[in-house]
Amino acid sequence: MGIEFKGVYYRYPETNTDVLRNIWLEIGEGEAVAILGDNGAGKTTLIKHMNGLLKPSKGDVYVDGVNTREVEVSTLARKVALVFQYPEKMFFSETVYDEVSFALKNFGFEKSLIPRIVEKTLKTFWLWEYRDRSPYTLSGGEQRRLALASILSWDPKYIVLDEPTAGQDAIQREILTHLINRKIGEGKTVILVSHDVEFIAEFSPRTILLKDGEIIFDGEADDLFRRKDLLTKSGLEQPTLYQLSDRLGLIKTDERVTLELLVEYIKKVIQCTK
Ligand SMILES: Nc1ncnc2c1ncn2[C@@H]1O[C@H](COP(=O)(O)OP(=O)(O)O)[C@@H](O)[C@H]1O
Ligand SMILES: [Mg+2]
Repeated sequence: MGIEFKGVYYRYPETNTDVLRNIWLEIGEGEAVAILGDNGAGKTTLIKHMNGLLKPSKGDVYVDGVNTREVEVSTLARKVALVFQYPEKMFFSETVYDEVSFALKNFGFEKSLIPRIVEKTLKTFWLWEYRDRSPYTLSGGEQRRLALASILSWDPKYIVLDEPTAGQDAIQREILTHLINRKIGEGKTVILVSHDVEFIAEFSPRTILLKDGEIIFDGEADDLFRRKDLLTKSGLEQPTLYQLSDRLGLIKTDERVTLELLVEYIKKVIQCTK
């Protein structure tokens, strides 16, 4: 089970170049995966294949063994939740409460169950106190959380977040990190699309690097973040921790790069100079 890409190519009808090229990818159930890459690398196009919004021009995508060509998008959407960039632009209910309950009604949840789910969801996302307010009176960070809450309320098995930190401040990023870690802890499959390496470094998941529609790296985040060459080539920066460790000559092949390691080193240097 899981999500599987088998030799996928994709080109938009109006363009004559392949935006995705020869993608072979298996994402297992319960995995946390980051998809990194520069603007235009094909990240959004790739994830739109995961719930059948786009169908490959060549090759196939399977979700839990079912070819996405053979099911309705609405059926897949219940299982694979895609949260696009700036999802808060799409609120359509008068209150925060209704925004979430509408989503549940839409997916055919039994009426009597809805109030309890809405309450639980809004509390999880720290939005319960705003339940009677209009979504548009919330702050930017709260709106982002509400958009996530309404999509995650029906408990999808696969959660795909496109640039979740875009336009968010440090506090919201921390809250997002917490919420995402919680979902990972619950055993959900979480796929994070980003070019925010600092954010991804917080999770250190399996990381896939896309460049010009091709996968050029698939492995541990720690291994990728050591590879300055590969990152630079892809228009990305090394996370600060790695830049610092690199310049201090601390990056070793047999040891993970961690903040603790760096702190140990600095402490030793301070001791020596005392
Ligand atoms: N609807 C579309 N029609 C034509 N070309 C598109 C469309 N959406 C994206 N593209 C092109 O496909 C490429 C990959 O885009 P996208 O998947 O959005 O990349 P990313 O999410 O990594 O920034 C880009 O060159 C982009 O211009
Ligand atoms: Mg994108």
